[in-house]
Amino acid sequence: MRVLAEDGGVPASDALPVCQRHRVREASIAAWNLLAGQKGAHIVSRTPETLLFQADALRWMKQRPEDSIHAIATDPPYGLIEYEAKDHTKLRTGSGGVWRIPPSFDGARRSPLPRFTVLTAADRKRLESFFGTFARGARRVLVPGGHLIIASNPLLSSVVFAAIERAGLEKRGEVIRLVQTLRGGDRPKGAEDEFAEVSVMPRSAWEPWGIFRKPISEKTVAANLRLWGTGGLRRVSAVEPFRDVIRSAPTHKAERSLSPHPSLKPQGFMRQVVRAILPVGEGLLYDPFAGGGATLAAAHRLGHLSVGTELDAAYVALAVSGILPLSAFEKRLAGAADDGD
Ligand SMILES: C[S@@+](CC[C@H](N)C(=O)[O-])C[C@H]1O[C@@H](n2cnc3c(N)ncnc32)[C@H](O)[C@@H]1O
Repeated sequence: MRVLAEDGGVPASDALPVCQRHRVREASIAAWNLLAGQKGAHIVSRTPETLLFQADALRWMKQRPEDSIHAIATDPPYGLIEYEAKDHTKLRTGSGGVWRIPPSFDGARRSPLPRFTVLTAADRKRLESFFGTFARGARRVLVPGGHLIIASNPLLSSVVFAAIERAGLEKRGEVIRLVQTLRGGDRPKGAEDEFAEVSVMPRSAWEPWGIFRKPISEKTVAANLRLWGTGGLRRVSAVEPFRDVIRSAPTHKAERSLSPHPSLKPQGFMRQVVRAILPVGEGLLYDPFAGGGATLAAAHRLGHLSVGTELDAAYVALAVSGILPLSAFEKRLAGAADDGD
């Protein structure tokens, strides 16, 4: 099996009919301009058009017209509770809660990681309900054939993906992000010497990203692509399809410094996902849980129109200042060794 190497600078394809692309572009620009005129819009860039709102994604989507967004790429608060005020305060003061502060070694301080194993049965129910509501909103605002690509983790993806399917989005596969994390692999707590050869859970080396699609409105994918510009995934090139395994280093520390969000995803990976999700290379992309702005930065880099929502004011400020530097980020030029995820 060939695994795609991480590569930010994916070349654009010109293989699609110009008139259809133009129509999708015009519709996207009109939708973006309408949003940019709204109260509270942070206009990050006008070319390419990049916009961010401090808002609750679920409420924001309810106010959007049906069939108005071409693609959604996002990394949600999968444990939900990790971004609640109580645990957020603990994260920012550096102690406890759902956030695990990994041990520092090699003189390097690692970023905090959310601990999903502390979720109770009630938390899981809440998670199901949250993602059900989210997916119903996504289904409404996506144009027919529009894709949702959503990050998850091996512990919770079955719950989250089932809730999304129940809301009427079709599962179209998963992207496996091959990434070495610091999750799992630990010996039993307090008995590390006694059970020196036991790990409570595997050390995680991959991250599942669910691929979903709003059902197409036309008889064929080709007809849907002509009408809406959606229905498929963009190929890497005429001779190479988009593949569902992507090798990806943890977010580089030079990249993190541009937008120091605790869950910042790397541009090398996000650029591949964002490119794939707009099959004719045009359309309005939405990130509901924009965080430090990695998805919007990837869209900006690729010349796509985008809009994001983020609940937390401090992260909105990070994203507003970090998106353009992230868009310009080149790992090859950053030089330094990788940091932990
Ligand atoms: C996993 S992080 C996203 C990180 C992002 N992928 C990046 O690379 O920076 C999830 C984000 O969702 C935000 N969030 C949580 N609940 C939200 C909601 N209801 N609406 C909008 N944003 C929300 C959190 O504040 C957090 O920044």
